[in-house]
Amino acid sequence: MAIVNAQKILQKAKKGKYAVGAFNITDIIQLEGVVEAHVEAQAPLIIQTSVSPAKFLGEGVLVAVYREVARAANIPICLHLDHCQDVDYCKKCADFGWTNIMIDASREPFEENIRRTKEVADYCHKIGGITVEGELGTVAGVEDQIKVVEDESRLCDPEQALEFIKKSSIDLLAPAIGTAHGVYKTKNPKVDFERLDTIAKLLEAHKMDTPLVIHGGTGLPVDTVKRLIELGGSKFNVSTDLKHTWIDATYQYISANRDEYDPGKLDKFAKNAIKEKVREWIDMFGSAGKA
Ligand code: 13P
Repeated sequence: MAIVNAQKILQKAKKGKYAVGAFNITDIIQLEGVVEAHVEAQAPLIIQTSVSPAKFLGEGVLVAVYREVARAANIPICLHLDHCQDVDYCKKCADFGWTNIMIDASREPFEENIRRTKEVADYCHKIGGITVEGELGTVAGVEDQIKVVEDESRLCDPEQALEFIKKSSIDLLAPAIGTAHGVYKTKNPKVDFERLDTIAKLLEAHKMDTPLVIHGGTGLPVDTVKRLIELGGSKFNVSTDLKHTWIDATYQYISANRDEYDPGKLDKFAKNAIKEKVREWIDMFGSAGKA
């Protein structure tokens, strides 16, 4: 049985100085592609669903598929709910069987962010076996139904991060450090490495082992990814890159085979494209062989 929560695999990643890839999927074939790439590489995995695909596919269907692929795979796999702003929906997914829940109240004032995040953390911890991610500062860009324009994004205050973790009881912290969801406008996005370093060192000094999450993986240069991992990022989120890969591969296949009506071949082609793309990320994260 390879069903795990995020805490378990991330503590190991933190110690081993690699990152676990957290990949957003919007359908079952993408999910299978992500899983197969990880099984072949023997890498630990976090499958992510945003709120819209979770509702569209159906919570029960998703969890049933997750449990079956995790049961059959010989690697640890976590199912994460990404950027959910609705406390009740977080609880619903926890009840269904997600093993990591992200409550995103980062746009709320600090005290309200703590209050909502703690409500979800307490609920999940009471069920047991479920870890919770909170966000401090706001990550710019678009992820599912959440849109944060650059002017409104705020970076994470390191001292506040300590207070946030203590008061909200979260297991994982996503600090806003300048990375963004979606496609970056420049080749070298401005990432605040120093801020991540300060947060990681502060946590260590206070003997807090909370893993740090890096959002906005798509488009970051390889050096940036590696440096963020060195500085303490142990969960690395990737979404847009897979969406582009999926749609481009589907378009490419249909354009080249316009007279063919065999969905199985199209699915296979697109799934293989996802697998290849995910393998590149696994290599960047250094997670191969760490299952
Ligand atoms: P990207 O879409 O930029 O890869 O970001 C993914 C993410 O952070 C999901 O939470």
